[in-house]
Amino acid sequence: MSGDLFVRAWHVAQVQGERLISDTGPGFPHVTEGGRWRRLMAEISGRWSEQGWSHGNWTAGFSMGFLWRLYEHTGDARWADAVASRLPELEPRAGDLNTHDIGFLFWPSFGLGAELTGDAHLRAVGLRAARTLASRLQPGGYLAAWGPLEDRRARESSTIDTMMNLPLLWWSGDAALREVARAHALTASRTYFRPDGSTYHRLRFDPDTGTVLDRGTFQGMSAGSCWSRGQAWAIAGFGRAWRETCDSALWAAANRAADYFLTRLGERAVPPWDFADTDPRAPLDSSAAVIAAHGLMDLERYGEARRLLSSALATCLNVGDDDGLLLHACYSRPHNEGVDSAVIWGDYFTLACLGRVSDSPASPRRSVMI
Ligand code: GLY
Repeated sequence: MSGDLFVRAWHVAQVQGERLISDTGPGFPHVTEGGRWRRLMAEISGRWSEQGWSHGNWTAGFSMGFLWRLYEHTGDARWADAVASRLPELEPRAGDLNTHDIGFLFWPSFGLGAELTGDAHLRAVGLRAARTLASRLQPGGYLAAWGPLEDRRARESSTIDTMMNLPLLWWSGDAALREVARAHALTASRTYFRPDGSTYHRLRFDPDTGTVLDRGTFQGMSAGSCWSRGQAWAIAGFGRAWRETCDSALWAAANRAADYFLTRLGERAVPPWDFADTDPRAPLDSSAAVIAAHGLMDLERYGEARRLLSSALATCLNVGDDDGLLLHACYSRPHNEGVDSAVIWGDYFTLACLGRVSDSPASPRRSVMI
């Protein structure tokens, strides 16, 4: 049964990929509104305002990664050509000192592209972005999340999402940059977890000592709740960190995050946006499901990964005329943005998971890992 669903999902992905490449912008798909992609210009960086932090465009890399995964799956150079024509718009962000999201922007675009094509320019730009990300390391042993480092708010800031920006550093192959990733991952493994295995979304650290000043949330329901996508970033981020380092503390962190996620999910196909929202009509976040499935694959928990992916596709695969591959995701409930939408990172992780499943539930297929 799952096999048919996976074939169907690849088919829908190609239909959606055609839409992405026939619509040449301006801007890159972010989340859907009224069934159509809302586009953001690549150059919009994050910033602090009186209302707090605004992420800017942190998602442009995922539409590029979506097309790269279609290229990997089909071998059709049209997908690669389409990416190549758009990457110059993203390239200037390689020097963006405002945000940890440089990882999300560059590993699915330049990093994955370099792996798939061997292109030296893609590799060089990806490495420049990796050095920019690593420059956010604080003496306290973590990567600052939000804002230019002259601002103390930026130096103190940290989010669980950073764990899945680290693949840019793992990919770099540079020992010093990989050491930065390891330092961040170990600090996060010690500081983000509650005793039950759930994670906080946001911490504030003393930048010099790494002492936690406070714990809270930005996109979750409350400081004490568990934002389901944050938990999924933890599974995937610690899972990848373990694969890259073989450090048992990171293995334990990833599995704690996974156990909590799967226990709270129970028999449901897709998690609510926040596990504390017990309203049966609470918005779902299908992107959390596929990010978690990706992490479970890194942890070699293939049966659980496959179940999660199959359930998400069975309930959220787009079979209509809307934009997007996977419906019923939630960008941010508190900001009322992208609620019950397709989100481009959810579409990317769906394809990344599909690239790793095969007809046999026990044995994964080989797809480029990043
Ligand atoms: N900023 C990453 C996320 O919304 O998951």
